[in-house]
Amino acid sequence: MHFKKLFRTLAVATVVVVWGAGLTVSRTALARDATQAASPGDECVTCHSTPGLGMRFTTGEIVSVYVDPWQWEQSVHGSTLQCTACHADSAVYPHLGRAIAHPSPREVGYLTRGYATCGECHQQQYVEYLGSVHAIALRDGQAESAVCSDCHGDHDIEPAEAKRDGLSVRTAVINCGKCHQEEFQQYQNSVHGKALLNGGDPNVPVCVDCHGVHAMGDPTMPGFRRQSPYLCASCHADEALMKEYGLSASVMETYVADFHGTTMRMISSDDAPISAGAAPGVAMCYDCHGVHEIRSMVDAQNPASGDGLLDICQECHENAPQDFPAAWLGHRKPDSDRFPLVFWIQRIYSIVVGGMIIVFVGHIGLDFGKIIVGKLRDERKRRRAE
Ligand code: HEC
Ligand code: HEC
Ligand code: HEC
Ligand code: HEC
Ligand code: HEC
Ligand code: HEC
Ligand code: HEC
Ligand code: HEC
Ligand code: HEC
Repeated sequence: MHFKKLFRTLAVATVVVVWGAGLTVSRTALARDATQAASPGDECVTCHSTPGLGMRFTTGEIVSVYVDPWQWEQSVHGSTLQCTACHADSAVYPHLGRAIAHPSPREVGYLTRGYATCGECHQQQYVEYLGSVHAIALRDGQAESAVCSDCHGDHDIEPAEAKRDGLSVRTAVINCGKCHQEEFQQYQNSVHGKALLNGGDPNVPVCVDCHGVHAMGDPTMPGFRRQSPYLCASCHADEALMKEYGLSASVMETYVADFHGTTMRMISSDDAPISAGAAPGVAMCYDCHGVHEIRSMVDAQNPASGDGLLDICQECHENAPQDFPAAWLGHRKPDSDRFPLVFWIQRIYSIVVGGMIIVFVGHIGLDFGKIIVGKLRDERKRRRAE
């Protein structure tokens, strides 16, 4: 234990001494092209791969300045960037003492400096980020809001892939959970979260599928609620996808056909910006199924299964009686086993209406035929008379 500590101290001391001796040489070496990759042989890495190296902020907080060389090499930047690409102000040693200028590593000024550096090379993401809920919270002084490195990491950044099965689950879900613990826990227990986190299923939604990535907006805005059924439907109305799970792909169709869905559709066709317009008061998919803790309909813990459904209806239909949910057909299209009355009325209605149309069209057709035949006969008679 003591031996280890002593060894560490000696190692650091040696490096510092060696570095000090070669300071003039190293300064020129450090002035190399910043886009050249930093390798374990480089000066910065030599010093910073010493475990236990730390720095103290004025609040007394100690932050590790250890950089794992193996992790760094594996990261997206490991093979392309020099350390100084992001840490230009630490290019010489002794460093400028950034820590002394900021009271803590979670101070807004310290954070802003960090993400502005990322923005020098990733301009699009930077500009989008500036309009997001996170950047707005940061501007309001909420230092616990997310900057680039909170989601991506710093020296261990993973590639982001456009295709789903290469998605960085750490960036798109796990790291969100560090700050949004409640939502993460609920998601973990949901049918979607279980499929992703336990089964690696790439077909279920992750946090950023519903919320957006860099330009993330406020989900409590009316426009977010208006559009939410279309979000669910982007997967749940996909026949081929739903077939894989044995789920009905007509949930959107049946929803839109009923009282809630019809009204939702009228309101959602409103092209007001996301922050304005009406938020539908009717039941959206997530009012019945939950937001982050969506469960399978065969899961006994699902609040929407069994008797729990009435409680959900009563959140809006205050005086709904016990048999109220039965007034609703659910997502099922009526058939002769479920809702036989509705099924047969619909059938008879179609037959009667269909029959009436046939009779009408037939009638008009016959009438037309009669007129044309009559006209032809008259014409023939006239010609013969001439
Ligand atoms: C001689 C060892 C040594 C070398 C070489 C070294 N550092 Fe440091 N570095 C430290 C120590 C010790 C600290 C802790 C704070 C301090 O003492 O300034 C530190 C702190 C830092 C910090 C955090 C402090 C701040 O101001 O943000 C960064 C970033 C950093 N070093 C980057 C680099 C880069 C980039 C290089 C190469 C160009 C480098 N270091 C070379 C020892 C070294
Ligand atoms: C792609 C940009 C980037 C590169 C390249 C990079 N870092 Fe960092 N580094 C960061 C970020 C982001 C942080 C954490 C927050 C901050 O300091 O802004 C960080 C933190 C640090 C810290 C701890 C101080 C702190 O503020 O938490 C040290 C030390 C450090 N880096 C050294 C290095 C060394 C050594 C290399 C080269 C092997 C390197 N960095 C390469 C982005 C980078
Ligand atoms: C470092 C902590 C941190 C990380 C990481 C983080 N967030 Fe946030 N997030 C915040 C803070 C702080 C707010 C502002 C909360 C507020 O204003 O009430 C916020 C706001 C939000 C909001 C808006 C909430 C509202 O009520 O307006 C959403 C949605 C959100 N984050 C989703 C995410 C997602 C998705 C991820 C991962 C991709 C993520 N966040 C990563 C800290 C974080
Ligand atoms: C709230 C979390 C969060 C924050 C903050 C964040 N990102 Fe991302 N970023 C992600 C996620 C998740 C992806 C992956 C999207 C995917 O795979 O489709 C991503 C993807 C990327 C990509 C890959 C290209 C792309 O657009 O898909 C780059 C580059 C990037 N981010 C840079 C940044 C920079 C620079 C910042 C800061 C200005 C930043 N990110 C802030 C979560 C975040
Ligand atoms: C000096 C320019 C530079 C800076 C500064 C920089 N990056 Fe990068 N970044 C790159 C390059 C170049 C690549 C592409 C690497 C590759 O494809 O091998 C990259 C790749 C990425 C990727 C993966 C993109 C993908 O499509 O897979 C992410 C995410 C990312 N950077 C985030 C960040 C974050 C976060 C920061 C700030 C901490 C940052 N970058 C700072 C140049 C930079
Ligand atoms: C299937 C889509 C979906 C997924 C996946 C999802 N969310 Fe949400 N989230 C929503 C909706 C819809 C709302 C708005 C709920 C409301 O208005 O009550 C919301 C609200 C939020 C809020 C604001 C809560 C509040 O009360 O203000 C945060 C924070 C949030 N989500 C974070 C996350 C995180 C973190 C994840 C991943 C672990 C995640 N979400 C996954 C759809 C989703
Ligand atoms: C990215 C595609 C995607 C999005 C977006 C999505 N889902 Fe899902 N959902 C799935 C997949 C795939 C499954 C099947 C998971 C399994 O069974 O392992 C599923 C399962 C479900 C189930 C469980 C069905 C059962 O009984 O087993 C419900 C309920 C559900 N989703 C509702 C919603 C709601 C409500 C929304 C919108 C707020 C939504 N989903 C958004 C892909 C999606
Ligand atoms: C008024 C409440 C309510 C609304 C609104 C609602 N659902 Fe449902 N949903 C239910 C109930 C109850 C069931 C189980 C009985 C059934 O399948 O009809 C169910 C079943 C499901 C299933 C499982 C289907 C299967 O094959 O087992 C999915 C997936 C689903 N809903 C998604 C959605 C989506 C997507 C929306 C919005 C477009 C939505 N629901 C709107 C209450 C609702
Ligand atoms: C988020 C609130 C909300 C929830 C939850 C909700 N409803 Fe509704 N419902 C409404 C509103 C608002 C209307 C009026 C729609 C219109 O006609 O524009 C409505 C209309 C109806 C109607 C048409 C007759 C009437 O009273 O106007 C029936 C039937 C109905 N809902 C049944 C249900 C059932 C069954 C449930 C539970 C499974 C349920 N609702 C859950 C808000 C909700």
